[in-house]
Amino acid sequence: MPSDMLRDVKELIKAHGTPEREVYLDGENSGMVFPEALRAMVNAYRGLRFAHPSITHRAGWESYEALYEATETIAGFIGAEAGEITYTHSGTEANNLAIIGAALANKSGRRKIVVSSIEHLSVIFPAESLRKVGYKLVEVPVDREGFVEEEAFSNAIDRDVFLVSVAAVNHEIGTVQDLKGLVEIARDKNPDIIFHTDAVDALGRVKFDVRDLDVDMATLSSHKCYGPKGAGALYIRDGVKVEPILHGQLSTQRLWPGVENVPAIIGFAKAVELLDRNFDAYVARMRRLRDMLIEGIMSSVEHVILNGPRGARRAPDNVNVSFLFCEGEAITVELSLKGIYVSSGSACTSRVLEPSHVLLALGRLYEEAHGSILMKVSPMHSEDDIRYVLRHVPEAISRIRSISPIKGEVG
Ligand SMILES: Cc1ncc(COP(=O)(O)O)c(C=O)c1O
Repeated sequence: MPSDMLRDVKELIKAHGTPEREVYLDGENSGMVFPEALRAMVNAYRGLRFAHPSITHRAGWESYEALYEATETIAGFIGAEAGEITYTHSGTEANNLAIIGAALANKSGRRKIVVSSIEHLSVIFPAESLRKVGYKLVEVPVDREGFVEEEAFSNAIDRDVFLVSVAAVNHEIGTVQDLKGLVEIARDKNPDIIFHTDAVDALGRVKFDVRDLDVDMATLSSHKCYGPKGAGALYIRDGVKVEPILHGQLSTQRLWPGVENVPAIIGFAKAVELLDRNFDAYVARMRRLRDMLIEGIMSSVEHVILNGPRGARRAPDNVNVSFLFCEGEAITVELSLKGIYVSSGSACTSRVLEPSHVLLALGRLYEEAHGSILMKVSPMHSEDDIRYVLRHVPEAISRIRSISPIKGEVG
């Protein structure tokens, strides 16, 4: 890690006073944790359930028991069996295992992978890496709201396709795909395909059942559904062939070496239990806060574009708007001074100042993509939080526009 960056970061922190309130809306980059999930994780540490779950002593057996019970909870929430879950330590790792692991096991001779053009980079990059070993990657376009173009999708599926990967819910613009429809189209054209879905942003936001959707693999990430960081999971339908992509000492599972992060998985299961029990109430609350934020911004600031669909076709937590004649990074800094934490564009591109590939795929111009801000509400946010944000966004934008080098008809 560069030491000059540490110096800059210390200066930036010092420049912040004590804000009146703090509202964390950057759940895309790093999620908030339900207090109950955090407590479950801490209790697991206190109760020796950090022990290695495949070692033969009491602490190990108790760890194994807790791990198995957590797995039943997580698997049950998505309609899977415990034996169909493989843990990794993040969603990124699970997406890599799905794509590269399936390719390593692929003896069919089929060499085509089909993804949508707005997949998370932890899907696109491993899929691209397979080009080096002879795979062909097809990125299917989406419409202006991020829905996969069905005709182009259908045309992309032929007898040479071995793997398809389309996210159930887009992480940046909240588009809720008609995943079941896409699976049907794909299986109709080629019954031998493996269908993987990145369900990281679907969990707890939309009903998600692997059997109902008829998917073969699904990626989950604990911190993206209000569990602690350090736990990801890949659902692999019984019978689907995947090879390990990392090698080392195995524990309870065949596909991911090293000791399982049992306390984080216990926290993950607690978050899932809460999402399951309160699903309708949480979704209704997030939808209310989301719409309050969207309507409040659109009615108080000029020259704003909403990215992604509206209503039930949008994830209940997702707010993504482009402020024209502004740089997204300038907005994140300006709002940070008020204790409001949001992300600019995509999580993965914000450090290198590249416009988000998702927004460009919708047909947004570079300048529109550059001024985009992504906010995620959660069941832990309140209307007071949103009111506080709405009080500060207009002044932040007008300040940035007044000093911005990007001039349009305002500024
Ligand atoms: C859709 C999607 N997939 C995968 C990931 C990667 O998950 P993780 O942060 O657990 O590596 C993210 C993270 O933001 C995501 O939004």
